Amino acid sequence: MVRSENREIIPDTEPERQLFFINKDREILLEKEKELGRQLTYHVTTFGCQMNARDSEKLRGVLNEIGYIPSEDENADLVIYNTCTVRENADNRVFGRIGVLSGYKKKNPEMKIYLCGCMMQEKRIIEKIRKSYPFIDMVFGTFNVYRLAELMYMSRQSDSTAIFVEESDDRIVEDLPEVQTYSFKAGVNIMYGCNNFCSYCIVPYVRGRERSRKPIDVIREIERDVQSGAVEVMLLGQNVNSYGKTLDEPVSFSDLLRMADKVDGIKRIRFMTSHPKDLSDDLIKAIAESEHVCHHIHLPLQSGSSRILSDMNRHYDKEKYLSLVEKIRKNIPDASISTDIIVGYPGETEEDFEETMDVVRTARFDSAFTFEYSKRSGTRAALSENQIPAEVVKDRFQRLLQEVQTIGREKAMELEGSVKDVLIEEIDREDPFSVTGRLDNNSVVHLKGSKDLIGKIIPVRLDECRGFYYMGTAVV
Ligand code: 5AD
Ligand code: SF4
Repeated sequence: MVRSENREIIPDTEPERQLFFINKDREILLEKEKELGRQLTYHVTTFGCQMNARDSEKLRGVLNEIGYIPSEDENADLVIYNTCTVRENADNRVFGRIGVLSGYKKKNPEMKIYLCGCMMQEKRIIEKIRKSYPFIDMVFGTFNVYRLAELMYMSRQSDSTAIFVEESDDRIVEDLPEVQTYSFKAGVNIMYGCNNFCSYCIVPYVRGRERSRKPIDVIREIERDVQSGAVEVMLLGQNVNSYGKTLDEPVSFSDLLRMADKVDGIKRIRFMTSHPKDLSDDLIKAIAESEHVCHHIHLPLQSGSSRILSDMNRHYDKEKYLSLVEKIRKNIPDASISTDIIVGYPGETEEDFEETMDVVRTARFDSAFTFEYSKRSGTRAALSENQIPAEVVKDRFQRLLQEVQTIGREKAMELEGSVKDVLIEEIDREDPFSVTGRLDNNSVVHLKGSKDLIGKIIPVRLDECRGFYYMGTAVV
């Protein structure tokens, strides 16, 4: 324990320490509100993946608890950008938008701007901020998200940008405030970090080593989510198939799924992301036998060339990947399979690319996220002298996109005319008299309906397939 200046005891255990600082920040906020005669607002903008989206829910939870008022608008008194650095264009988007924030700040002297997330773990980014963006009030990294309240308190003592970036932190802090973005579905972290070091990927450097939450904490969180109205949970991890290996009492991901499947009231369980090297027969069995696990597997291929896969350090080859797809289709015939593919990896020849196209045609993915290779400094692939010229990458990207889209459309057509359960998620953005929902296989459906359907799972006839989505009618 440590004593603060006025001899208060600052707890050295978590979450007590953060709850202490939430109270401190609240006192300061109340003073400010009195001085200004108004409440102060905040806005959190999320870039990147579902992990970041979940971290943002934790940031919002702490800010709400302190007493800030959420605002839809980035012109707020406190703005946090939760950044991504997986590909270069993510970096550029962030810096582009910070310029706009500085304009707001000139007009509102109370405004504070914080940057956090994966980009902040990179030294070159911190240098750039120090040099060219002095109006940023605070920067914190991926290991510090749970310490927002404490860092806000400490940053007040700094005249320049306060920087809190750790190299690592193995702690998993439970039971801090959070807000759920949706009432009917929730993201649940089951593990943090990644140990795989795929040669192109920055994630292991910015999110640290793999560590799993205890099954009891995961299941309790799912139970709490269900009690507050969730019917769907998405279990999140960079490589969920290696869940539990580092726990004192190891547990497999299949067993975690079986436990989640038994939670009273849960209707749909999704998970992301599966690494092909760790996808076990037992996992396929657990999905097939479960009552609530969605028949959708996101299984990043990255490349169809065994030579490139080996260079990428992926620990599987083309044949192993295709045999996994076959096994999934045999045991879960209605499973949809989606994937991630990178084109233009250093040294990729036309023959390598054709191998990728061959896997795409054989596996017949329901959908695929396609990426142009992006050089990330600090990764092994960035050192290769064999970078592929931009016009070759663009050409391959277009050919790949066309192929995955054609196949995706053909696959989607197969369900046209059938009746499927749909979880209604929101009012249709283009038609206030319609709603949008998702099938178990993750496809989007639009149908006539009103907001009281949101969060309900209802049978819908898929009248017309329009490429990647359906127009449907509720079956009553
Ligand atoms: N360049 C392009 N795509 C990448 N991904 C990860 N790193 C890179 C990179 N350097 C893609 C992978 C991964 C997805 C989340 O992002 O396909 O599965
Ligand atoms: Fe990156 Fe590979 Fe880890 Fe995925 S498994 S986060 S691609 S290093």
